Amino acid sequence: MGVERTQVAIIGAGPAGLLLGRLLSRAGIDAVILEARSREYVEARIRAGVLEQGTVDVLHAAGVADRLDREGLRHGGIYLSFDGARHHIPMEELTGGRSVTVYGQTEVVKDLIAARLAEEKPLRFDAPVARIEDFDGDGPARLHYRHDEAEHELHADVIAGCDGFHGVSRETVAAQVRIWERTYPFAWLGILVDGAPATDELIYARHPAGFSLYSMRSPTVSRLYLQVAPDESMENWSEDRIWSELHARQDGDGFTVNEGPITEASVTPMRSFVAAPMRHGNLFLAGDAAHIVPPTGAKGLNLAAADVTVLAQALAARFREGDDGPLETYSDRCLARVWRAQHFSWWMTTMLHRDPAEDAYGAELALSQLRYVVSSRAQATALAENYVGLPLERTVAAEVARG
Ligand code: APR
Ligand code: PHB
Repeated sequence: MGVERTQVAIIGAGPAGLLLGRLLSRAGIDAVILEARSREYVEARIRAGVLEQGTVDVLHAAGVADRLDREGLRHGGIYLSFDGARHHIPMEELTGGRSVTVYGQTEVVKDLIAARLAEEKPLRFDAPVARIEDFDGDGPARLHYRHDEAEHELHADVIAGCDGFHGVSRETVAAQVRIWERTYPFAWLGILVDGAPATDELIYARHPAGFSLYSMRSPTVSRLYLQVAPDESMENWSEDRIWSELHARQDGDGFTVNEGPITEASVTPMRSFVAAPMRHGNLFLAGDAAHIVPPTGAKGLNLAAADVTVLAQALAARFREGDDGPLETYSDRCLARVWRAQHFSWWMTTMLHRDPAEDAYGAELALSQLRYVVSSRAQATALAENYVGLPLERTVAAEVARG
């Protein structure tokens, strides 16, 4: 087989790679998406599920929001639960009408894959990229990947590294990136439950036994999480133990968690991570390849969508107008939003979890912060505007002002 040539080689068919592919095809730019895993694997992976208004808007603009419109659950608030009581944060009212939509990342991925296949644009599963070369020169970059039991080469003007935290893209530029990171002394055990959520809004709960979250996927499917030890094995968690912990951490005030058959259960580690810059010549990092946030702020998917929206616009400027200006500011513009989300996710995480090494003083600080958030309109607004998503322009303006 001869060498294939494209404008943009996209590594990874997670939400970042798939959405970028869709935005580029709408802009008339050619791309090839290469994904290491199978379609079945990618479509079965259960991930987070809260979309900011800005993410919903981009999915609309990309023409992949029909099912999201029908099945997504609009939420104008959340509950914070601590000291044995639940407090409603009316985010919509506090942010001038902004809200979030609960719709599983898995569903976003399925919709994007269906749209790509319907367009008959290249999307190859079981096609792991092994090596990236010549991404820093004037000529095309070269990718080496394996597919259908053969080695292939793809040449591209630009490479979009959308290959997640364990991908090959960031590894390729490891010597040139600076890393900031923090790990947490806990993980989340998540379950998917066949049963109606007992709550109208998501409940983030701090309890002496640890954090828990009551979320949902539909009117008949619930999603719940428990703080567990970072190296926790599922073997230690019988269904009985999961439910009894959830009741202990969530029930009260006449409210009780609604049990049902557990259809999926897994443990996710918690980490904060940033790699910068996000551009290296013609190689652009996007999504989890460049940054990770702990899931408490529900920002991971939204950051990935924001990155590729900025990247698609910048690539359109290069390929359609020969203007490289927007690509030159890609990294800084993304990182302004990334760091805001890093802070917010860290803040939500430390305020709501019990650090096993924390002293009694630390626990009282977290509780004091929670009491402040639910009693001060200014504090509640700060939480709300971060949770629903800050307009990109505002963080960009801050960046520009900084020089
Ligand atoms: N070649 C091809 N594909 C690869 C390679 C490789 N060498 N390495 C990794 N991949 C694929 C992975 O199999 C995965 O499907 O890249 C994809 C990356 O997708 P995600 O991990 O979903 O990352 P991203 O698209 O950035 O989405 C970020 O996912 O982890 C959540 O919370 C996070 O919501 C956020 C979102
Ligand atoms: C989810 O529903 O999976 C979910 C919701 C909110 C979060 C994290 C995960 O903060």
